Amino acid sequence: MKLEFVLCKYLILARLATMEIKENYSLKKLNTFGIDAKTKYFATTDSVDEIRELLSSDLLKNNPKFILGGGSNILLTKDFDGTVLKVGLLGKELADEDDDNCLVKVGAGENWHQFVLWCLENDYAGVENLSLIPGNMGAAPMQNIGAYGVELKEVFHELETVFIDSGEEQKFTNADCNFAYRDSIFKNELKDKCIITSVTLKLQKKPVFNTSYGALEQELGKMGVKQLSIKAISDAVCSIRRSKLPDPAEIGNAGSFFKNPVISNSKLQELNSEFSDMPAYPVKEGFTKIPAGWLIEKAGWKGKRFNGYGVHENQALVLVNYPASGGANGSDIFELSETILKDIQEKFGVELEREVNVI
Ligand code: EPU
Repeated sequence: MKLEFVLCKYLILARLATMEIKENYSLKKLNTFGIDAKTKYFATTDSVDEIRELLSSDLLKNNPKFILGGGSNILLTKDFDGTVLKVGLLGKELADEDDDNCLVKVGAGENWHQFVLWCLENDYAGVENLSLIPGNMGAAPMQNIGAYGVELKEVFHELETVFIDSGEEQKFTNADCNFAYRDSIFKNELKDKCIITSVTLKLQKKPVFNTSYGALEQELGKMGVKQLSIKAISDAVCSIRRSKLPDPAEIGNAGSFFKNPVISNSKLQELNSEFSDMPAYPVKEGFTKIPAGWLIEKAGWKGKRFNGYGVHENQALVLVNYPASGGANGSDIFELSETILKDIQEKFGVELEREVNVI
């Protein structure tokens, strides 16, 4: 290694000494798949000022960068030859309130489910259907998280960002975010362009319960709930999720690996003539969403297990990494997802799309 290079590297690291900068750092504990990939540099930032300082440093300017939240929606397929910046901004603040609603501003680094529990304690309604979703607040708007009949966009007020190239800060309203099913402007035009630093949600003080999702209604019935409450809905959602979805602390996974595809009604008719039991949910005039989990199960993949990885036995949408069997490389899981994509195309003529970000 040339002397100037070594000096330059240590000057960069010294200048950023107030921040934790690590080298050749394993990301195994920072992604819910539990993939043991390394990054050349790793930094955790606890404030907007730290993010801006880091963005203007040579460490970030001269290296590929990746912004990491809770690591619950990524598949690492190789070591990362650049800098991973973990957003650690914490804090919850009641920004405004009236008799019916309150605005709560939350740091992007707050854990999503811990935030839901905090809302239950404070009697703030709106996020109870989104209980137990892994990941951090900052990632929630990226893919407009959704479950059991509710999507984030229904409670979203605004968010704050820092632009990666300029360091400028900008606010985005609900309309600015272009929210759609598992989608937002941050997965499209603004992909890799900015870092979400805080999210403000508009929560209800007088709850409007949403139990329209069939499985949720059934679970509440099974639990014998007579008086609906946000706590009862959260308990029911947690119970369904625990029965269907693997706990990342035990079996590595990133939740749904694929999105549910939206197909034309003519395609639906064609599929229905062969598979009359296929569930379907109309989304807009002429188009219907069908469950990818059903297609993958029908194609015979549910519960398929290879050496250290496979398709989950209770929910075919979820690909898993079994640590007890030695675990898998991210590239093995990626290859499995490729094979499934091709198989579903061949068997049903339907194109699946990954929900998880492949790095
Ligand atoms: N289904 C199967 N086999 C399977 C999985 C599902 O036949 O292996 C069928 C079910 O029987 C049901 C239908 O598919 O008729 C829907 O299943 P489920 O209620 O489990 O929901 P999903 O469409 O498979 C979506 C979200 C989940 C979310 C649930 C509940 C996507 C990609 N996934 O799954 O989100 O929890 O609805 O709202 O939209 C996530 O994003 O990580 C996630 C878990």
